[in-house]
Amino acid sequence: MSAGAFLHQKTSELKHRVRVWDLPTRLFHWLLVASIIGMFASAYLGALDWHMRLGCVVLVLLIFRLVWGLVGGHWSRFAQFAPTPRRIWRALRRPAHDTEVGLGHSLPGALSIWAMLLVLLAQVVSGLMSDDDIAYAGPWAQRVPEALTAWMTDYHAHIGQWLLLGLVVLHGVAVLFYLLVRKENLISPMMHGDKLPTLTSSPCTPSRDDLLSRMLALVLLLASAAVTWWLTGFAA
Ligand code: HEM
Repeated sequence: MSAGAFLHQKTSELKHRVRVWDLPTRLFHWLLVASIIGMFASAYLGALDWHMRLGCVVLVLLIFRLVWGLVGGHWSRFAQFAPTPRRIWRALRRPAHDTEVGLGHSLPGALSIWAMLLVLLAQVVSGLMSDDDIAYAGPWAQRVPEALTAWMTDYHAHIGQWLLLGLVVLHGVAVLFYLLVRKENLISPMMHGDKLPTLTSSPCTPSRDDLLSRMLALVLLLASAAVTWWLTGFAA
């Protein structure tokens, strides 16, 4: 390709790029990744004070994401990646084009994200009720029936962590599959926020990502931290 044609292609790509992942969603994602790595590391190193602190960070992020799924940027809203019968039918008929213009999460991606959010929530809630009978107990452990604490401790340590790890590995494999087999890089949009629609002629709604929506996200993050503080502190 000549330098002129290359420049023309790049200019056209820049012109057609659509903001898909707003800054709050991207920060949510990468902070979640860092916290989960920290949670696994602290659990295996026996640094349980840090494990509990990072668990609170994950809870703040999850509460924030639940609210952001209702009021956030267009493509971050739950309505955009809900596995409705219409969406499933469209994905079955045209698997390569199930997002219509190649933006947002594909159906398998959406399903894995719902699974990850639910398993993460279960992991945090079971952690709050866990008790190792030696030195560490979650803030809810003494507030719920003993049998529930025992069940939650078992789930947290033996089932939940493997479920979560399995989903994270699946997520990584899917992202790599898109990169290596389908030649579609999903990672850079999760960094800079923009994607190139597959059908540039179709109307594409961008996610709102201006100063006002970022300020709203900051307020919601602080509110999520306050709710987490209340939820984890009431037993103290
Ligand atoms: C602990 C590990 C991880 C967790 C728990 C996780 C979780 C998530 C979640 C919840 C979403 C949905 C974002 C949203 O709508 O809020 C997502 C999307 C995404 N993640 Fe991860 N992630 C992890 C690691 C990674 C890594 C290591 C990469 C790449 C190097 C990655 C790349 C992506 C991409 C590209 C998307 C967007 C997928 C799409 O375009 O549909 N993730 N991840």
